[in-house]
Amino acid sequence: MCGIVGILGRHEVAPVILEALRRLEYRGYDSAGIATVQDGRLERRRAVGKLVNLSDLLVHEPLRGRAGIGHTRWATHGAATLENAHPHRAGPVAVVHNGIIENFAALREELAAEGVGFTTQTDTETIALLVRRELEKGASPRDAAEATLGQLEGAFALALLFEGEDDLLFVARQGSPLAIGHGDGEMYVGSDAIALAPLSDRITYLEEGDRAVITRAGAEIFDAEGRRVNRAVQRIEMDAARVEKSGYRHFMAKEIAEQPRVMAGLLEHYLPADEAARIALPEALDFTDCDRVTLVACGTAHYACHVAKYWFGQLAGLPCEIDIASEFRYRDPVTSPREIAIFVSQSGETADTLAALRHVKDRVKQVVAVVNVPTSSIAREADLVLPIHAGPEIGVASTKAFTAQLGVLALMALRAGQQRGRLDQTALAEHTTALRALPGLMNSALGLNETIADLAEALAGYRDVLFLGRGTMYPLALEGALKLKEISYIHAEAYAAGELKHGPIALIDTQVPTIVMAPRDALFAKTVSNMQEVMARHGPVVLISDAEGIAEAGSAVWKSVRMPEAPALTAPILYALPAQMIAYHTAVAKGTDVDQPRNLAKSVTVE
Ligand code: G6P
Repeated sequence: MCGIVGILGRHEVAPVILEALRRLEYRGYDSAGIATVQDGRLERRRAVGKLVNLSDLLVHEPLRGRAGIGHTRWATHGAATLENAHPHRAGPVAVVHNGIIENFAALREELAAEGVGFTTQTDTETIALLVRRELEKGASPRDAAEATLGQLEGAFALALLFEGEDDLLFVARQGSPLAIGHGDGEMYVGSDAIALAPLSDRITYLEEGDRAVITRAGAEIFDAEGRRVNRAVQRIEMDAARVEKSGYRHFMAKEIAEQPRVMAGLLEHYLPADEAARIALPEALDFTDCDRVTLVACGTAHYACHVAKYWFGQLAGLPCEIDIASEFRYRDPVTSPREIAIFVSQSGETADTLAALRHVKDRVKQVVAVVNVPTSSIAREADLVLPIHAGPEIGVASTKAFTAQLGVLALMALRAGQQRGRLDQTALAEHTTALRALPGLMNSALGLNETIADLAEALAGYRDVLFLGRGTMYPLALEGALKLKEISYIHAEAYAAGELKHGPIALIDTQVPTIVMAPRDALFAKTVSNMQEVMARHGPVVLISDAEGIAEAGSAVWKSVRMPEAPALTAPILYALPAQMIAYHTAVAKGTDVDQPRNLAKSVTVE
């Protein structure tokens, strides 16, 4: 949610900042801007809409200079207009900001009372105006920035650039992530290490409340109390090519196709090949005397938790509660000192999930983070971190992170079943064999690409779509509907198949296709009955099932997608693929912006 970059370079920085912003564009694309200092003069260029507009502008109006900051915006305060685009400037200072200044209205009033005028509707402009006020009082850039920070409430990562200062960046972190990259006579800052990937693999992550004075010679870091602190420089292995499309038309297509490889890699980590049924999760993860599991997340990650709820119950006999992070802490959740609380997040930075974690941290037995970014805030604040090893996910709609989250959660539930005596060695071996077969099955499912592209051509003509599923296929139906609506803008709803007759059936007519996700399992016959109810009302049905299921369902279905047969444990992971492919191809057929759907952003760092 907004990406920021800063560079003190040895050469021209505007093109390098532009490239770094391109890698951060998943965080927002309402507008973009860059400011540089050249020959002591502060200058900026900004453009509404995607980064390409800024890039075009820079062709006609280039920005020179070896020091600069840049921003890609997801609008919070103020519409996506040129005035509201970052960097914001007040006289000799420019600022880029990710987050929200919660007391900005009060600060604005204070400034207005002093006769200060405003040119934007943003909270960020206030920061620039406050710094300018301090500079006018004679403060040095650093003191002016410090004095301003003391007045700000809320969540932010920010970078300041000053007129006349070609070798100075002031940056601060409170609630939103910020990484410093160390180069050879150059220094960089970015919202994440991906932004800096081709520039530096030596990264320092700022802690909560940290601020840093950066020059080409290095970074001086101070904590919230102003004490000089040392923060480790970590070597981050980030193959820059992994954040490219590598020949695919969209990141989402690439990330869907990566899933067999990601799953195989994850299993290599957590299911060592040499030992038949040993789950290599940390010893500290102990469900023996735990009385319940709570899973909290947002969006797609929440649906992964929803699947895991079935697994923890069925495989380990453990009571399991799931919640949406933005609801969890405001409902005064009842906690237990024997509870394990699991927070699932691709980015590890989602503000609501982080806040939910903090809410229960000292009240439960253990807080576990299931994340894709092991250096993220959620990972740092958890007692135990289980990385999903999916590699950078750039498409705003989550795909490979979802199946990798499911992989880790399945292993956790198996571990719980084993520790609690619910699963003997034979049962465990059966389940681990099923998991090992998953990458192969995923590859076969990817082979359905053409079939699904044809189906999507037909779906693209409809306005509303229903998804149905039972058991673990219910959360998969929810995920299928979310994917479809977020990237194709077709209105899609999902229901537990048994709920159909309690309301949604009123929507069924020839113009509302229903996608039924139903492998030939113990619940199949019941789901087929619900499917018949749809067809009896002339609703076109798309059945996603295996060969046996499709044969049993008969020929009255409108279209079918024949999946490989999968065991009960892995079916919900496998069925994520057709759900993603349907959304992807429908969006392509409709010509929408697959990787950057309107109004959305990845890494939601505001509540
Ligand atoms: C946003 C993204 C979703 C993601 C959700 C949670 O809404 O668009 O794809 O599932 O945030 O993000 P997280 O990083 O916590 O998994």
